[in-house]
Amino acid sequence: MGRSIRVKAPATVSNLNCGFDVLGLAINEPFDTVELELTETGRIEIDDIRGCNTLSRDPAENVVGPVLRAMVTAMGVTAGFRVIIEKGIHPGSGVGSSAASSAAAAYAANLLFDNAFSLSELVGFAMEGERLASGSAHADNVAPSLFGGITLVRSYDPLDIVRLNVPPELFVVVILPDTEVKTSVARGLLDRQLPLETAVRQWGNVGGLVAGLYSEDYELIRRSLEDFVAEPRRAGLVPGFSGMKISALASGALGAGISGSGPSVFALSRGEASARAVMESMSRVMHSERIGFKAYLSPVSSRGAGIC
Ligand code: HSE
Repeated sequence: MGRSIRVKAPATVSNLNCGFDVLGLAINEPFDTVELELTETGRIEIDDIRGCNTLSRDPAENVVGPVLRAMVTAMGVTAGFRVIIEKGIHPGSGVGSSAASSAAAAYAANLLFDNAFSLSELVGFAMEGERLASGSAHADNVAPSLFGGITLVRSYDPLDIVRLNVPPELFVVVILPDTEVKTSVARGLLDRQLPLETAVRQWGNVGGLVAGLYSEDYELIRRSLEDFVAEPRRAGLVPGFSGMKISALASGALGAGISGSGPSVFALSRGEASARAVMESMSRVMHSERIGFKAYLSPVSSRGAGIC
């Protein structure tokens, strides 16, 4: 038997309203777990996927396949892996399910390769899982799932990941409706070109949000949590979205929006008590609209992928 290791990687909220494909943060739960055993077969064999019966065990069709294949190629070795995946995050939920499995696989393989790669390099490998899952190698979920905290993808080419300051009172509420949205479908709804006026409003908010995170200016964070790019095109995909957003803001949330490509909806709040009130008001909307859901409340998680 080869060396083996078990790693978990957290769910993530990406975009954060204004930062389509560039901003994301980690939450404490849910999370995915990946167990890897290093072999000399040269093959990637997925022995089991627990907690989900819709994902393929074929490594050509599961996100861990291209991630591990890319790492073996970069190492220039003939190693293989046996893999067991435990899905804590439902696929298609908008909180980085494919990203968490990809990040956990990359992190675990790196430990078995004696930390040959930096965390930023692992983001590059984990993006291969996103490419398989959605047809687009975005990094705004895999980066916070690996690093923890809040991350900015300053550039994709070359890849440049920046860890941002996390104000201590920032809390996250996530409501996961019992439905799925395929990221590829949600991305297909977006305009490929934007009016300059829209771009100006959006990047003003990205700058404002980053400045607000550093100065821990919660009012500036509040003013910056707006999305003129993805939300107007995607809101119709998310059951209960407008009701939840209105109730979150009315209950004191700093901002609310679609988590990643949906259908999860997130809200940011100052302080845990405020976040709890926001979670209760969003939950009431879901109950009144008779939509099944799960609710999570978490500080921004400082922990990314790690051994468990
Ligand atoms: N930034 C991506 C999107 C995240 O919104 O399509 C998808 O998980």
